[in-house]
Amino acid sequence: MHKDIQEILFEEKTIACRIEEIGAAITQDYADMVERGERVMLVSVLRGAAIFMADLARRIDLPIEMDYMAISSYGNGTKSSGVVRILKDLTSDIKGQHIIVVEDILDSGLTLKYLLKNLASRGPASIEVVTLLRKETLQQAKIDCKYIGFECPDQFIVGYGLDYAERYRNLPYIGILEPGVYHQADQLGDARRVD
Ligand code: IMP
Ligand code: MG
Repeated sequence: MHKDIQEILFEEKTIACRIEEIGAAITQDYADMVERGERVMLVSVLRGAAIFMADLARRIDLPIEMDYMAISSYGNGTKSSGVVRILKDLTSDIKGQHIIVVEDILDSGLTLKYLLKNLASRGPASIEVVTLLRKETLQQAKIDCKYIGFECPDQFIVGYGLDYAERYRNLPYIGILEPGVYHQADQLGDARRVD
């Protein structure tokens, strides 16, 4: 696994420190709502954001709820197609609740744009977004992310939940995938999902 990484962008400790800061910010921002008896729920987008969600949730010092959604945002290769499909919906009704959508990475923003519209139609009290990474791309849908972990270059990155063809999710750090890895797969006509 490690030999396929061209460059490490964020080490395990760096990620942990940033998540602690974000957790503290969320704790502060939502304390009053919880105090008033309002419900706060983290909604994570499977599968990429699962690891981030697990670590972030434990840095929020409030009684929050957690739920998961799975959406497929990709045709093949390493670029977003803009086609979004719900593969697994939330288990809970979010009406009247404060929702914090937990994402792994904001690239084109097409996935989140669709998701936010969909969640807003269910009548939550509020919706905010926390994304671990935001890619510095030219064409990105305008999305208000209240909390952003790190900005990252417009390259294909893996680790800490992010995959290429379902691999590298378990790397404890985040790094740039050696382009040879996916170029080779593309040449073999290997159509893979990357969400
Ligand atoms: P978007 O719709 O283009 O913003 O894509 C969002 C989703 O694509 C993310 O939630 C990731 O699952 C996946 N994704 C985007 N860029 C990368 C990347 O560099 N590595 C791995 N997955 C990515
Ligand atoms: Mg994702």
